[in-house]
Amino acid sequence: MPERVLLLPSILAADPTRLLDAAEMALSAGADGLHIDIMDGHFVPNLTFGPATVRALRRAFPGAWLDVHLMVDTPAVWVPVFAEAGASALTVHIETLTDSRLLSDIRALGVSPGISLKPATPAEALRATLPLADLVLIMTVEPGFGGQKLMPDCARKAAALRAMGFGGRISCDGGVNRENAAELRALGADALVMGTAFFRAESPALVAAEVHAL
Ligand code: DX5
Ligand code: ZN
Repeated sequence: MPERVLLLPSILAADPTRLLDAAEMALSAGADGLHIDIMDGHFVPNLTFGPATVRALRRAFPGAWLDVHLMVDTPAVWVPVFAEAGASALTVHIETLTDSRLLSDIRALGVSPGISLKPATPAEALRATLPLADLVLIMTVEPGFGGQKLMPDCARKAAALRAMGFGGRISCDGGVNRENAAELRALGADALVMGTAFFRAESPALVAAEVHAL
C-alpha cells in the first residue's frame, strides 16, 4: 500500500502580513506541513523569508512539518542556522552544492535532507547524491516567484528518478494545482507543493482531501 501523497502549501502565496493565520488555516485544512521558500536575491531574483520566520512558525506549531527550501548561493552557511530555527527538512539545490557531504551534515543535525534541481538541470545530475537524500524536490517552474505555469518536461523528471531507483519522496514545486496533481502522481511524485492553487482556492480543505485521495 503506497503512502499517501503529501500536500505542502507554500506560504509564499499567503498574505505576508497574516502568516500566522495562513499557516493555521493550512494545517487545519489538512495540509501535511508548510513549505517555506528561502531566497537570497542571488541564486534567485527575489527575497523572501529568513530564519526568524521559521523560528516563529516552529514556536507557533511545535509539531508541524516545516519543509524548508533553500534557494541560496551558499547553503552550507545557512543549513545550521535553519536547523537551529526548527526546520524539519532542509532542501538544498544541486546547482549550489560544492560537497555532497552537506546532505549528511543536514541529517546529523537531526533534519531530513532534500535535494532540488532547477528546470535546466537534468535528473541525471542528482544520481550521486540520491542515496544521501530523503527527498527530491523538482522545480517545475523557474524558481523565484509563485503563480507561474508548471513545465511538463520538468515533471517528467519524477519518472526518471524512479527509473534510477530513487525510493524517497519526490516533490513537485511550482505551478502545481488540482488539474495537474493526478498526472504528477502518475509520474511518481508523492509530495505536492502548492502555493497559489491552495491559498487562493475556494476550499483549501477540499484541495487537501483531493490530494490525499490521489
Ligand atoms: C518558487 C517556489 C515555490 C512557489 C510555488 O520559487 O519555490 O514554492 O511558492 O508557488 P505556486 O504554487 O504558486 O507556483
Ligand atoms: Zn519551494
